[in-house]
Amino acid sequence: MKKVLTYGTFDLLHEGHINLLRRARELGDYLIVGLSNDQFNKIKNKETYFPFRSRKTILESIKFVDCVIEESNWEQKTLDVQKFDIDVFVMGDDWTGKFDFLKDYCEVVYLPRTEGISTTQIKRDLYKKVHA
Ligand code: CTP
Repeated sequence: MKKVLTYGTFDLLHEGHINLLRRARELGDYLIVGLSNDQFNKIKNKETYFPFRSRKTILESIKFVDCVIEESNWEQKTLDVQKFDIDVFVMGDDWTGKFDFLKDYCEVVYLPRTEGISTTQIKRDLYKKVHA
């Protein structure tokens, strides 16, 4: 069985997330998603609308996602790849090159992002509408 691993925040789930998850799953037979927890987001200066529990519940209901694990620090990726015996590590191409160090353990793939949408953009657009 070919195992695929990806990471993200997946707040205010949108089509770009779904496209990424679908294509990641197509690269293998089993997709694990590392979901950043609220403490880790704080470290990254990222504030989510939905807390970890809610983001996890939503992700787990997606048919392309087989398993969701908690991500709590930067060092975790190398350990997870080994622990879960991962064949393919996938991220959107906004991360191109950043995780090439994982090539010692598995294949590393950067998929093109869906253009014109991001959680940050959704938040900005909603803010503009409310304050127009
Ligand atoms: N992603 C994508 N296409 C988009 C948005 C995200 O392929 N339009 C991918 C990212 O490259 C990443 C995964 O989805 O591999 C999770 O991204 P995340 O950072 O949670 O989503 P964003 O919408 O980019 O959130 P933010 O604006 O907060 O950075």
